[in-house]
Amino acid sequence: MSQLKQQMSLHNNDDNSAPSTPGKFKMEKSPYFNRTRWHSSLAKLTLWSFAFLAVIFIFFFRSPSSPSLPTDTSRRSLRTYNWGGPAWEKRVRSSARVRSRNGLSVLVTGAAGFVGTHVASALKRRGDGVLGLDNFNDYYDPSLKRARQALLERTGVYIVEGDINDEALLRKLFEVVAFTHVMHLAAQAGVRYAMENPGSYVHSNIAGFVNLLEVCKSVNPQPAIVWASSSSVYGLNTKVPFSERDRTDQPASLYAATKKAGEEIAHTYNHIYGLSLTGLRFFTVYGPWGRPDMAYFFFTKDILKGKAISVFEAANHGTVARDFTYIDDIVRGCLGALDTAEKSTGSGGKKRGPAQLRVFNLGNTSPVPVTELVSILERLLKVKAKRNIMKLPRNGDVQFTHANISYAQRELGYKPTTDLQTGLKKFVRWYLNYYSGGKKAVE
Ligand SMILES: NC(=O)c1ccc[n+]([C@@H]2O[C@H](COP(=O)([O-])OP(=O)(O)OC[C@H]3O[C@@H](n4cnc5c(N)ncnc54)[C@H](O)[C@@H]3O)[C@@H](O)[C@H]2O)c1
Repeated sequence: MSQLKQQMSLHNNDDNSAPSTPGKFKMEKSPYFNRTRWHSSLAKLTLWSFAFLAVIFIFFFRSPSSPSLPTDTSRRSLRTYNWGGPAWEKRVRSSARVRSRNGLSVLVTGAAGFVGTHVASALKRRGDGVLGLDNFNDYYDPSLKRARQALLERTGVYIVEGDINDEALLRKLFEVVAFTHVMHLAAQAGVRYAMENPGSYVHSNIAGFVNLLEVCKSVNPQPAIVWASSSSVYGLNTKVPFSERDRTDQPASLYAATKKAGEEIAHTYNHIYGLSLTGLRFFTVYGPWGRPDMAYFFFTKDILKGKAISVFEAANHGTVARDFTYIDDIVRGCLGALDTAEKSTGSGGKKRGPAQLRVFNLGNTSPVPVTELVSILERLLKVKAKRNIMKLPRNGDVQFTHANISYAQRELGYKPTTDLQTGLKKFVRWYLNYYSGGKKAVE
């Protein structure tokens, strides 16, 4: 299409340039004038015919189920994905088939991501039907996402490759499977990257979330939705530990602002359409198959390479600390939220009664200074880190996070059991095996 547009605009430019010089103007009076105009009309006609044929060609030869183009302009979203057809539908159905009594049928978005892979595989292990959805974007090394996909495939979970902004795809998925639940984990994560590519946060965390909710509100039956918010919504809040009742109107990054916007959007869809919505504010999740953009991950990589690491401190040598939460604890929290989620109350796109709306902190409730994180890694890796102590930049990171988890404890039976030392040991074992165990060398 863009080629076509280019051709058309080139053509128009030629047209405009025609009378711009006296010489060319004179040509109009020459005996050849009529023939020249006739030739130019013929050329125009041919070009327009080509344009018309090209439009027809594009219209008919697009796959009948190919997705609508994403509306976003961020570089990673301008992709099309292949989906549809009887074999594809069979695969979708088989992955989502419930194998236990009273099992759930769950669409897991962001399934090739860190948390998504762990949640999808835990659901599958207990007999729930699970279908994944992920756009495999390149925010971090997509080969890690592919490796997670292979892992899930071995447990019987199929990940559909597509974008949550693709309404036609989402509608098709709900047409093929009547999902009882959506575990929505697809998002643009990371705090600092928001200054580099803000559009990707709006695309996935706001537009994508709204698109997903639009589809969920209109299908019958409406699913219950559990989705990932973030501890970052607490922003500049200084009251500790962070409780769900504390203020969340001072986000310190665009990422945090999009997650906060998600919480408000969730309220709206619950209020107007009766969707059952549970938001989970995760606190710095870590563990095997983790995210390479997170400090514990790239510290490990850099320490092993003998490269200096930047360790931040706050003003007046203040401690920077995080409530690091091990992935298995987070998974239990997610399953607890899915199991206690009440049904949505709407049908036919209309609310039929009040529906559940919840927000929970999922943290470890024991913050650890980042300097201590480095010391644990040094012991586990048996390598001394080269530390560069630096001032905490004001580009999104906050000085500390600390979760009050009593509400999740009460309602979800959430009880984290893994301390940082134990969890990092498991991470390091996975890391060494994944990157040096024959699959891939540490770069
Ligand atoms: N890991 C943490 O410490 C942490 C903390 C707070 C909140 N969260 C939230 O938890 C969720 C999962 O985080 P994670 O650590 O697994 O991140 P992740 O980046 O590993 O996983 C997110 C997945 O979503 C996919 N995705 C992104 N945009 C998409 C789109 N438009 N359509 C389809 N797929 C898309 C990505 O390809 C990726 O695989 C996210 O919502 C994140 O914001 C994570």
